[in-house]
Amino acid sequence: MGNRLLDEFAYEYKHLLEAELRKLVDRLEAPPIIKKAMHYSLDAGGKRIRPLLLFATLAAFGIDPKKGLLAAAAVEMIHTYSLIHDDLPSMDDDDYRRGKLTNHKVFGEATAILAGDALLTYSFEVLGMIPNEAGSSDTKLKLMVEFAKAGGAEGMVGGQVADMEGENKELSIEELEYIHIHKTGKLLGFSVHAGALLAHAEEDQLENLRAFAHHLGLAFQIQDDILDLEGNPELLGKPVGSDASNHKSTYPQLLTMDGAKKALHHHIDESKRYLKRTGLNTSLLIEITDLVASRDH
Ligand code: IPE
Ligand code: IPE
Ligand code: MG
Ligand code: MG
Ligand code: MG
Repeated sequence: MGNRLLDEFAYEYKHLLEAELRKLVDRLEAPPIIKKAMHYSLDAGGKRIRPLLLFATLAAFGIDPKKGLLAAAAVEMIHTYSLIHDDLPSMDDDDYRRGKLTNHKVFGEATAILAGDALLTYSFEVLGMIPNEAGSSDTKLKLMVEFAKAGGAEGMVGGQVADMEGENKELSIEELEYIHIHKTGKLLGFSVHAGALLAHAEEDQLENLRAFAHHLGLAFQIQDDILDLEGNPELLGKPVGSDASNHKSTYPQLLTMDGAKKALHHHIDESKRYLKRTGLNTSLLIEITDLVASRDH
């Protein structure tokens, strides 16, 4: 994809994030097997798009992205838990994730479920560790409430339930949009929102960033659906054809591949339109947006 600004930024901040994640799990006084299972999925090397969005949002406000390190670690933990559970036999039943065997394939279902639970609960504790210089108690409380909403029944979990209930059914585009916005969009939205809260954004900036993240989340999941059909499993690190074998409705299936790609570009254009309206220095966020549309993994 080769965009220098984002390449350098991503290189630096992925390293910082990954070191922080390792440190955070290492410090836990817990049975070694659960720490091993947590490390296994965190270390597997995802794209870290949510942390990067959080860091890039802080950068847009001219604030040191390191201020967002713990919040970014918390988002990556909750996201990783959602993937561990998403891959379970009772859910999507997938054997590979991030280029490695899925957590339950290595540690067994019970430990995989518990590793997910541990990451989910720890993510809230990690938000609580944000130092006062980076976020006041008031800001931290707001972050925690938004985080709970984004991950819970009104957010990601709600989207996963609707996704599951939609299996073997022909959904309308509105129903599919609900799934995408919730199962994927809400955590991406939180990442942007968290950066904005830590930066003390103005209300109108928050509104435009919210609209940006809404469209970006849809674009991200539309591309996920496209890649499940057209992607290269080696690059993706996860199998293709999972949606069809689980009888899921997807954008390409409802709109044809061509229609799905048009919808993807519509949401990318809308994302950029709202970014522009923030009046911030959004060059990194624009590059992340382009990456979402062109990504092959
Ligand atoms: C995969 O998320 C699950 C979805 C919400 C579509 P990512 O594509 O961000 O997965 P990683 O973190 O890079 O592995
Ligand atoms: C999963 O969506 C979204 C969450 C885990 C919340 P998918 O089931 O489409 O994600 P992949 O394709 O397995 O990564
Ligand atoms: Mg799924
Ligand atoms: Mg899945
Ligand atoms: Mg998918």
